[in-house]
Amino acid sequence: MSELSRIEHTATEMRLPALLEVRGLKRHFFIDDGLFARERRSVKAVDGIDLTIRSGEALGLVGESGCGKTTLGRNIVRLDRPTAGAIRFEGIDIATFDDRQLKPYRRQIQIIFQNPYSSLNPRLTAGNMLMEPLMLHGIGEPAARRDRVHELLRLVGLRAEHHDRYPHEFSGGQRQRLGIARALALEPKLIVCDEPVSALDVSIQSQIINLLRDLQEELGLAYLFISHDLSVVEHMCDRVAVMYLGRIVETASAGDLYAKTYHPYTRALLSALPVPDPTVETEEIILEGSVPSPVNPPPGCHFSTRCPFAVPACSATTPELVEREPGHFVRCIRLDEIS
Ligand SMILES: Nc1ncnc2c1ncn2[C@@H]1O[C@H](COP(=O)(O)OP(=O)(O)O)[C@@H](O)[C@H]1O
Ligand SMILES: [Mg+2]
Repeated sequence: MSELSRIEHTATEMRLPALLEVRGLKRHFFIDDGLFARERRSVKAVDGIDLTIRSGEALGLVGESGCGKTTLGRNIVRLDRPTAGAIRFEGIDIATFDDRQLKPYRRQIQIIFQNPYSSLNPRLTAGNMLMEPLMLHGIGEPAARRDRVHELLRLVGLRAEHHDRYPHEFSGGQRQRLGIARALALEPKLIVCDEPVSALDVSIQSQIINLLRDLQEELGLAYLFISHDLSVVEHMCDRVAVMYLGRIVETASAGDLYAKTYHPYTRALLSALPVPDPTVETEEIILEGSVPSPVNPPPGCHFSTRCPFAVPACSATTPELVEREPGHFVRCIRLDEIS
């Protein structure tokens, strides 16, 4: 490559849009309270999310159960339709696309589900399960498809003899490997991993985590890696976003987030982690109360009802996500007083 074309090439790369840009994403579920309800209530499961994932990058998404992680993931892969906001994949907003428009994107954005027991079709053998997406998308001649199925089994550490087995004949870890193989079948660029090891035996969780890491490197995949476990995310991800009641409260590179934590909620999550060295004294911040209902989230800062630092102003206005240090964003109006 000549010097000039190298410069042009680099310039083109720099202009490339992020792989995924989510802007102002909302998903409100409307629930009927019965015949006499004056107005329908809504569950604000996802309530204004902005996030960016670059090609080949792993973004971790952490937060307690019920904060909206799965809903966000399902919207990004468009298994669900957002109430508002944009989901730009390589610059194209797919938030409101119909099935026909979505077809090319279905190949590129895949999901691995939390529960490998319920997410695999019990009537299909492993081989047929992996063949199905190839057929649906008209990929390859029959012989090439068969080769691809074997390649997929190999990629996830399953053997040729697993080809004709049904899901119930596999262990939990093997089923999740199969779920990963199915997600890989169409050579996606982005995979939403929704708590991919939470339902698995602790003894095999690290095998699956390592497999996902190896695949990311080998195939240049980008991940949205959802977990309620901050230590897994630290191990897996380049950047981390912390979610509370439908919003992101803090986001930074994994190194920065663990080195300097700003948001009181992130601090509480981190303080609950076991410390490797038991002689080091740490103070666990115990949060009062439980996560409020997303049907009626507290006004202003959603965390204000449980925050040890909250003052009346916290429930008066919704804080913005502010860049506190380069690349480190925090949603809290009291940062100067509390950090
Ligand atoms: N289809 C639905 N209808 C109504 N409420 C829903 C639906 N799906 C999720 N929710 C609610 O949205 C909130 C977020 O759920 P979810 O995205 O599953 O959270 P997480 O994955 O972080 O545990 C919860 O209060 C849940 O009950
Ligand atoms: Mg979930």
